[in-house]
Amino acid sequence: MNVLVIGGGGREHALAWKLAQSSKVQMVYVAPGNGGTATDMRLKNVPITDVVQLREWAQANKIGLTLVGPEVPLAAGVVDEFRAHGMRIFGPTKAAAQLESSKAFSKAFMRRHGIPTASYDTFSDPLAAHAYVDKMGAPIVVKADGLAAGKGVVVAMTLAEAHEAIDFMLLDDALGVAHNDGADGVAVPRVVIEEFLEGEEASFIVMVDGKNVLPLATSQDHKRLLDGDQGPNTGGMGAYSPAPVVTPDVHAKAMREIILPTVKGMEQDGIPFSGFLYAGLMIDKSGQPKTLEFNCRMGDPETQPIMMRLKTDLVDVLMAATEPGPHGKLDEVELQWDRRTALGVVLAAHGYPMNPRKGDAVTGIPKGADFTDDAADAAVFHAGTTLQDGTLRVSGGRVLCVTALGDSVKQAQHRAYEVVGDIAFEGMQYRRDIGHRAVKG
Ligand code: AMP
Ligand code: GLY
Repeated sequence: MNVLVIGGGGREHALAWKLAQSSKVQMVYVAPGNGGTATDMRLKNVPITDVVQLREWAQANKIGLTLVGPEVPLAAGVVDEFRAHGMRIFGPTKAAAQLESSKAFSKAFMRRHGIPTASYDTFSDPLAAHAYVDKMGAPIVVKADGLAAGKGVVVAMTLAEAHEAIDFMLLDDALGVAHNDGADGVAVPRVVIEEFLEGEEASFIVMVDGKNVLPLATSQDHKRLLDGDQGPNTGGMGAYSPAPVVTPDVHAKAMREIILPTVKGMEQDGIPFSGFLYAGLMIDKSGQPKTLEFNCRMGDPETQPIMMRLKTDLVDVLMAATEPGPHGKLDEVELQWDRRTALGVVLAAHGYPMNPRKGDAVTGIPKGADFTDDAADAAVFHAGTTLQDGTLRVSGGRVLCVTALGDSVKQAQHRAYEVVGDIAFEGMQYRRDIGHRAVKG
């Protein structure tokens, strides 16, 4: 069978790498892919991003299964387009993808279905938003309503920061987010203002087939740019799996109080969810999880360590998930995981996240971690790279994700940073403390 992975980041490289290990797969195509997927013999890049063109290409090339990585094609309706032509694809429809693409939709959904989340209100009028912030006090959180590539959230520690964020998002409309339509069908800037939650974050990711839920291994991301969780928010600077903060008790609560009511609620609302469902959790001191956000896709970089630990054939899992009918057969699947810890360190470009510089040459990816050996204990997944006349160059903010397995978090850390030490490009930035919350004492 031929398989198509849509996207071009580290998440898609890791998914394509895993799919290519299946004996059932002839070729894995990645659209548009990156410099890493261009060099792997088992993968082939396809330079298409338009949803209709992708579907036409997939039909012409007899693609038996398509997997969607990023949120943008999902919100553009790629799943609806493929399904309308009888093609097998794993991901949510455009309507279901609103769980991520509209904060106003997902907050109202959670309120309606009693799913634990921060209390909030939604505004398009700046004056009303300012008045609300004055009434509630700081710290408080201001979120743009549309997709903003991880940049649409301001955790305001002071009232002044909150007021500034409101003006920035509503008055100046300066974020460049894709606005969602208001009640009259016209796109308007909107913000969600919500209660500040304290605790430890974790990424809780499951697969859904319209009805059945299959949880993946737990993981934790590092959203801030600098060591010690300082500096601006990013798409994610590193991740590891499993995440000890998700104890069996927290896991059970997240399933019972968040994931299952969400899947049921979507079914009840007539927009059944299929695809990866990612709940960003905030877990308080007493072990109570609340939902910070939903994503309707895998996390990046969480996917890289999770795929390194997955032992089950991913093609089998996805075929069960996309079984034709009212819902899939994920209830018949059991996932096997490597017992070791996997840990991924993101190497980012000079100027990331605001103004990543492109063009710097990347060198030093060591043999073994370059996909010549699937049993290797380290793998360097590519994201913002491109291959130009045989030279690997930086082409995006997050450039590589160096991922390693180890018997403990410390050992996985040690191995990952050993490989990081071999790699060089001008202006390379990375955190030295990935996994710090799991290394206690
Ligand atoms: P989001 O895109 O909604 O996950 O927000 C990005 C990041 O902002 C999260 O990973 C949290 O670190 C932080 N954040 C979002 N909402 C809240 C909240 N209500 N309280 C505290 N921190 C938050
Ligand atoms: N790593 C966070 C995300 O994928 O949204």
